[in-house]
Formats: sequence, structure tokens, C-alpha cells
Amino acid sequence: MPLKMKQIHQFNKFLPHRPAHLTTPIQKPHHGYHHRTAEKSGVFSVSSSTACHGFIYIPNLWRQINSGIVNGFCTKNSHVPRLLNQSISFGNFKMHLTCRQLLTGGTVSQFSSSLVFNKRFFFSHSSAHVSSTDKQAVSSAKWNSSFVEVSLRGHTCRIPNIWLRDHCRSNKLYNHKTHQKILDLELSSQDWTPSAVSYSEDMTVISIQWKDGHVSHFKLEWLADNYFPGVFSRHAQRVYWNHKMIQSEGLPTVTYTEHMETDGGLTQSLRNLVKYGITVVKGVPASVAATQAVVERVAYVQETLFGKMWLFTADGSRSDTAFTTQSLGAHTDNTYMHTPAGLQVFQCLEHSGSGGETLLVDGFHALQTLQRADSSAFDVLTKTVVPHEYKEDAGDKSPGYHLYNLGTVVTVHPVSGELIQLRFNPYDRAPLNTVRPDDIPAFYEAYEKLSRIISNKDNEVWVKLKPGSVLFIDNWRVMHGRAAFDGNRVMCGCYLPREEWISLARMKGLM
Ligand SMILES: [Fe+2]
Repeated sequence: MPLKMKQIHQFNKFLPHRPAHLTTPIQKPHHGYHHRTAEKSGVFSVSSSTACHGFIYIPNLWRQINSGIVNGFCTKNSHVPRLLNQSISFGNFKMHLTCRQLLTGGTVSQFSSSLVFNKRFFFSHSSAHVSSTDKQAVSSAKWNSSFVEVSLRGHTCRIPNIWLRDHCRSNKLYNHKTHQKILDLELSSQDWTPSAVSYSEDMTVISIQWKDGHVSHFKLEWLADNYFPGVFSRHAQRVYWNHKMIQSEGLPTVTYTEHMETDGGLTQSLRNLVKYGITVVKGVPASVAATQAVVERVAYVQETLFGKMWLFTADGSRSDTAFTTQSLGAHTDNTYMHTPAGLQVFQCLEHSGSGGETLLVDGFHALQTLQRADSSAFDVLTKTVVPHEYKEDAGDKSPGYHLYNLGTVVTVHPVSGELIQLRFNPYDRAPLNTVRPDDIPAFYEAYEKLSRIISNKDNEVWVKLKPGSVLFIDNWRVMHGRAAFDGNRVMCGCYLPREEWISLARMKGLM
């Protein structure tokens, strides 16, 4: 069904934040909207710099577009006039360019384009000021006493000289065996104006001659991966979900045999976690030992005040509400810790009664919903520091604890705005002594707006965990909760450290 213009503008509003250091302006989707081919869902905006690098913004598809359309487009850029009024395919991408006007000297002043991705996405746009050849565009890079202008994947970036010197990967300044820097001290007090900047013949490497005689060589791909915000380098794209999506597609699942015995199975478990923030391993023996073996394929068990592998029933042995039969609203764990556990793992070993279903809510989907509905409320939650605590009296079973931590409810990437962490646990909030009186009403308003989204039935997924299924939850993204229950319910599980599982995901090329 064709998307209306209003929807296009709404869509554009929710695109990832524009990195401030990129010089190419964003152009909103506008009159280029193309009714004739708009039967597919998805609308994107494209910007075109004066350097003829069309760049397409598609949430969660940036990397593919970067390596697909943009590279392909740029490498063929010297033939722009020849490509006009033609369709160009790059794997699953198909782009159609239409020339609007050709000026003398081969410069295209306007063009329109449309894009189909995997037969599912559609884009149409018109833009202006396209120079004639890619080589000319790139060789126009400049430098001065502050920065070097580099064209990276369609963006003209002004990279500060001090950053380039600090990130030099020459053997003199970087140990490639240990992947550690060899420190170049007192960078800030020196003049790092290059004496010369040149590109390799194939335009893949930029070399900078410094005034002290040192030369730095940078592959443009390396710069794009490392100077751009992290969102550009994510390999497995996140998929935000709600009740409807999980109901139609089910929970992402890997079999016990695949997970334990194959590299592909383990990689799939990690891919599920990167994409959805949850994964299930099915067919696991219903025991603590088997659960531990499953989690140790991913990371070592993180010891906390609750021990390593835990086995709990509603015996009230600890202060936490988890040790009761009460229902629990959606929350993340360990908000009272400086670094909350990365993964939460559950297996239900036994339940003879009723109730006790597990609640799952995609926190990032909830935050995206809030950001779309009320961006100022979202901003309040990224800036307001909220205290959380865990108190447990000393007794026969406990030496006593009082954990306390300060943190914002939402953490985002400082440049790209990408969501990094949700800390949401209304149960564990400590007295709010971190907010100035004038700002307190705005905080409660924002927190309650998020709470209402989280408790919306459309966002809730309820699952009855059965013996044999080990559920992994990204505790920095997905919230969990529980329905009240009766009967004998025995759960086992543990926490896994974030650094470990993220490291493994990187090693598998997923991030
Ligand atoms: Fe919990």
C-alpha cells in the first residue's frame, strides 16, 4: 500500500541522529516521492553531497547501503551521465537514476532516483549538485591547521589532525601484534598541520606527511569503520519487536545440539541476541549442570551477591521479590550495580501449579516508541541520573548488603544517538536525591510515559517456560517480569557478563 507523504515525514523524523561532524546536509524526502513504484513498504531519504556521493539513510540498514549502493554508485560515478535513465543493480539493491539537467563540463545539477531493496523497500528522491567524476570529487579533499577533509562512504568528513595523528597505525606508533598504541605524548600542545596529504592511485589509502617527518597511512575503509559512529559498523542489525511480531514469528530459537556442538549454532544464538536481545536454546536437559554448560558456550558465569548458578523457589530466602510468588512487572536487573549483568538466563526446572508465565518486553522498542511520541521526554531519561539500591538485612543466610548506584535510565551513543542501555527497575529505585526540585515533575512525567508504553499489552510477550528451554535475555535491552503463581516452581539460571558475550559476538563478526 502506498505510503502517504505524512508518513514519509514521520519516518524521516525517526532516522538515527545525524553525526554532527559530517558536513553533508540531510535532505528530507519530498517531491521526489514516486507514486508509480510506491507499492512496497519502506521510505528512505537520500542526501547528495557536492562530491556526488549519494548517501541513503535507512534505519538498521546503514551498513548494507554503505557497502552496496553508495560504494557501487561512487565507483561508477565518473559515468554518471551514462547511467542516467538506467537501473543499476548491486546484489539485492536496485537503483534507478533519472537525469533532470546536464550542465556544461559534465556536471549534473539535478537528478532523481528510486531504490528497491530486496523487493521490499522503496525510495525515491531528487537531489542537486553532482560533480562529474568521482576522482575529481575525492581529490578535492583539503587540509588546514585543524583538519583533513576526507571522503568516506559518501560523506565528506573533516577529521581533526590531532585525531589522525593519535590514530596513526604505523609500526612506530602502534603494536600490531598486541593491538595496542605506542603512546605519542603531548599531542594537544603541538601543531599537527600536515605538510602534505595524498591519495593512493586506487583512492583507497590516504597518506599524511607530518611536519616532524613521520608519515601516516590510513585505509579509507579503516577510517570509515573507526572514525564514524558505531552504528556504521554493526554487522547483525537489531530488530525491535512487540507482541504481534513474536506472535507471528515465535521466539528466536536454536536447538541444544546445534548450540553445543556446532560453531554455526553458537553463532546463531549470538546473532539472535544481537538482533532481538533474546534467544532460546531448546531441548536442554532440565538440570542446573546442563544449563551451566549451555551458558558457558557463551560466557563464564558472573558471580554476584546471588552466587553463580542459582536455583530458587518462592521460599523468601533473599530480600528480592524474585523469591516470592508475587507478580513482577517488566524490569531490568542489577540497576543498583555500576555495570548490570549483560545477560540473564532462566530455565524452569519444575512447576506443579499454575501461573508464573514469564513476561518479556523489548526495551529498545519501547524507547523508540517514546522517542517518536515525545522526544523531550526521551531526552529527560537520557540526562536524569536516577539512584537505585538493593538492601538486604544480615541474617542466617546473608551477611547483609547495601548496593547503590547512580545512572541514567537510558544511555545512548554520544554522536549517533544509537541506544546502548536501558536501566529500568521501578522496584529498586532509591530516594530521588539527584534531581533539582524544578526538574522533578518533568522526570516523573517522562518516566511514567515510558512505563505506560512498557505496560501496553501490544508490547508484552508472555511465555510459559517449560523444562528443556533455556532463555537468554540481554539485560541491557530486554525487560523481564513474571505472573503470580502457585504450586512448587523451581527456576535455575545465572547472569553472564556483558563484556564477554559482546566480545564473542565481535569475534563472530556480528558487531
Ligand atoms: Fe529480575
